[in-house]
Amino acid sequence: MSIIKLLSKKLNRTIFTTPSHNQNTYFSKDYKSFYKQDYSEIEGYDNLADPKGSILMSQTRTAEILNAGKSYYITQGATSAILSAMKALICPNDNVLVARNCHKSVFNGLILTGANVDWFMPECDSEWGIYTQIDPKKLNSILDINNYKAFIMTSPTYEGINSDIEQIAKICKSHKVYLIVDEAHGALNYFSNLLPKSAMQQGADVGILSLHKTAGALNQTAILNISKDIQGIDDKVFQDAVNIFETTSPSYPLLANIEECVQYLSSNKGKIEIDNLFTNIIEFRNELNKHGIEFYDDKFHDASKILLRKKGISGNDLSDILYDKYNIEDEMNNSIYALYLTGIGTTKNKLKILQNALINVPVDNKFEFEKVEFQPFPLVKIQPVNSFNCKYDFVKKENSVLKISNKLIMPYPPGIGLLYPGEAIQEWHLKYLDDDVEVIV
Ligand SMILES: Cc1ncc(COP(=O)(O)O)c(C=O)c1O
Repeated sequence: MSIIKLLSKKLNRTIFTTPSHNQNTYFSKDYKSFYKQDYSEIEGYDNLADPKGSILMSQTRTAEILNAGKSYYITQGATSAILSAMKALICPNDNVLVARNCHKSVFNGLILTGANVDWFMPECDSEWGIYTQIDPKKLNSILDINNYKAFIMTSPTYEGINSDIEQIAKICKSHKVYLIVDEAHGALNYFSNLLPKSAMQQGADVGILSLHKTAGALNQTAILNISKDIQGIDDKVFQDAVNIFETTSPSYPLLANIEECVQYLSSNKGKIEIDNLFTNIIEFRNELNKHGIEFYDDKFHDASKILLRKKGISGNDLSDILYDKYNIEDEMNNSIYALYLTGIGTTKNKLKILQNALINVPVDNKFEFEKVEFQPFPLVKIQPVNSFNCKYDFVKKENSVLKISNKLIMPYPPGIGLLYPGEAIQEWHLKYLDDDVEVIV
């Protein structure tokens, strides 16, 4: 029986377990179905930590749809899926190579696994100020020299750039390096021919997708996918690792929501929904191109992440005007661009509202975009595992260069570190630091 069917059945039982609310709502009518479905692992309801019934059946069906060897449902976001994947594959003192534009959860995974990190710098587009692809040639030459247990990267990036996972996976395999792809922003890649193939289709060992970001599911829903032909690891280790980071009270409504989301997106209706999203975005772009709006346009870019700039105004000012005057909030903005994330749930009408607002924003023809400077290559002095909870002191900013930072400097979004604890402060970082800087002593 599917989770959805299981939860829609009326259960005549007096349950003395958590949760205390007895599947009734106490706060708001909108929560009603949530309360009706909110059980713990009572008899017949399976157990996410050791699934044998409806949850196992649902995860197996999802793995088939997603072309994975195994799919694990995660109710605590891609964050917890990333930590689980790292814990399963990486042991203390293993060397791992990590793309610098990874989400902060990867750094936390380095702390928790006790791995030694080397950073890999992705390519960048200085005109737009974004990291772009992982260069397979550069990766190959680094893997030729050093031994790593795993390479961890993000594709698509927060801004929507997809890397050539197929080539990267071949390179990693030939060097016996596990490839973990954070595809938190790429859930739709699994369901549409209009997008690049998913990490599972392209040969990655692990793919982590977040269903709440683009796929229309509820917050915290994620899937950890393991490839069919991952080598040298027992399946059981992944379940054990997932169990370290998952709550012992996973939400059944969220589990059902994951199941429902995958079923919907893999149905004809779901595919039409994704097609419509892209048709609407193309219309939106065509219209705005006539009004001085430029879109990030690259064959590896996922157009559902609307990355745009308007000639004659900075991304920050554009964002402020849209927010103050039109009540439109973007995902992120900087001196160049503003980023609008779309996905299942973005209607034509919503795009129209953004379109009209963008057209009406006034510009200054003398304005020129600044060039963005990318962070320098990080100097790791203390490995992440040893950089946690260190003794620290304060030094004046002007005396802090080459001292070891105790603080994380990270604009959020996008959650990419500019300076992690344990790394030497470089001249470039000074503009981000307070007058008194926390350094490890
Ligand atoms: C690239 C990337 N990976 C992972 C995450 C973590 O996802 P979640 O919020 O589902 O834990 C984020 C969150 O923004 C992200 O941008």
